[in-house]
Amino acid sequence: MNDTTIPKIPQSMNRKDFMKHVGMSVGGILLLNCLQACTGSEIPDPMQPGNTGVDFTLDLNAAAGNALNNGGGFVVSVANKVIVARSQDKSTFFAVQSNCTHENFQLTFQGNNNQFNCGLHGSNFQTSGAVANGPATSALKRYNTSFDASANTIRIFE
Ligand code: FES
Repeated sequence: MNDTTIPKIPQSMNRKDFMKHVGMSVGGILLLNCLQACTGSEIPDPMQPGNTGVDFTLDLNAAAGNALNNGGGFVVSVANKVIVARSQDKSTFFAVQSNCTHENFQLTFQGNNNQFNCGLHGSNFQTSGAVANGPATSALKRYNTSFDASANTIRIFE
């Protein structure tokens, strides 16, 4: 015998009860947002680590990509939120999200030690995107690169 009790669902809700439920829901959402902002913890980027849709090509013959002709050079694509760098020996390209995972400051690349650097609080990231030293605790999102030497272009994509 099945003696499961099914709770009764009210057939209607008056306006006062409806407003009470909506008010509690909205209040809860606002409280959660406020608590997150007040804790000073890292702000997760809603675009990370999921698919960001990044897929663009830089022409190293053009001004926008020219710095990548040099070992240790780097370029920031603000529109794509990606920093692209070239190793000191010019053998490898690296592409990661352009802003620090700590408090969203734009990174630079230090070719002499092959690390991405945040000038705001001093976090460093390896070329893999992993944290080398904090205060950041979360890795950068890394992107794929494909260099076409004959055209002198580089594609950055997921
Ligand atoms: S914003 Fe980069 S270390 Fe704080």
